[in-house]
Amino acid sequence: VDVYAVAGNPIAHSKSPVIHQSFAEQARQKMHYGRLQPDINSFALEAKSFFAAGGKGMNVTVPFKLDAQAFADVLSSRAQLAGAVNTLWTKDGKIYGDNTDGAGLVRDLLAQGIAIHQSRILLLGAGGAARGVIGPLLEQSPKCLVIANRSNAKAQELVKLFTDLAVSKEVALESRALVELEDAAKTPYPFDLVINATAAGLSDESPLSTQAAANIFVPSSFAYDMVYGKSTAFMQQALQKGARVSDGLGMLVEQAADAFLLWRGETLAAAIDPRAVLVKLR
Ligand code: ATR
Repeated sequence: VDVYAVAGNPIAHSKSPVIHQSFAEQARQKMHYGRLQPDINSFALEAKSFFAAGGKGMNVTVPFKLDAQAFADVLSSRAQLAGAVNTLWTKDGKIYGDNTDGAGLVRDLLAQGIAIHQSRILLLGAGGAARGVIGPLLEQSPKCLVIANRSNAKAQELVKLFTDLAVSKEVALESRALVELEDAAKTPYPFDLVINATAAGLSDESPLSTQAAANIFVPSSFAYDMVYGKSTAFMQQALQKGARVSDGLGMLVEQAADAFLLWRGETLAAAIDPRAVLVKLR
C-alpha cells in the first residue's frame, strides 16, 4: 500500500489521519496514513528517511511548514507566495512542495455560502497562518482586504509582498495595527468577513478588544476562526453582535482534499466528498 503521513509537533491530536482514511475509503483506494512527530530540529532528517523508505506524500503542520519549504526541491508558485509548505510528495526522484491551506479556506467559505468576490475582508494576524491564505483570498477579487496585526510592521510587510497581486485583482489592500480598529474613524465600515489567523485563540483570548469588535461586526458579518475544535473568544464576540461564525474544521478538511488531489490525481479526487467527511467529524 502507498504510505503517507502528517508531520507536526505535537501531532497526537491531528485529525488528518482520519480525514485521509475517509477519502481513501470513498475513492476505494488502499492507503496507509500515519503520524510523525520529529524533534523540533529534526524535520529534514525525518522527512528524508520517510521518503527514502518509500513514503509517497506528507502533510506538514505546525511548526514545520518553513522546514518543509526548505526541504522541497521544487515549489509551486502558491507555496512560494505563502512562504510555507503543507504538502510534500515525490516524483521522478524529486521532492515537490505545495501549500493547500489558502485554497482550503476559500473552498470552505464558498461551501458555507460566503461570498468572497467584492466583499470587505478583515484578516487578523500576520504570521505564517495569515500569509498562507492571502494569495488565494486575493484571487477571488474581494473589494478590499485589510490585514490587521498587533505589530503593524509585520502587516505592512505582507501588504508589500502581495501588492502586485492585489493591483492585478483590483483589490484595495491595506494594513492596520490592531489598536487602530478601536478607532471608528479609522475603521470606516463594518466587515463582511473577518478571519482570525492569530495564535490568540490558543490562549483563550481574542485579538479584538471589545471596542474593536463593536466597530467591526454587524449581523451580516461572518467570523471565521482558523482554530478548530472549540468556540473561541473571537467567535463569542461575533455571536454577541448577531454575526454568523465558523471554526476552521472545514478548512482542514478542504486543504486535505487538495493534498489528496495532488497525490492521487483528478479522477480519484473527483470520487471524494470532503463535505461528507466534515459532517462525520462534527
Ligand atoms: P502562525 O504561523 O500560526 O501564524 P506566528 O508566525 O507565530 O504563528 O504568528 C502568530 C500571529 O498571532 C502573529 O500575527 C501574532 O501577532 P504579532 O505579529 O504582533 O506577534 C499573533 N498573536 C499571537 N498572540 C496574540 C494575541 N494574544 N493577541 C493578538 N495577536 C496575537
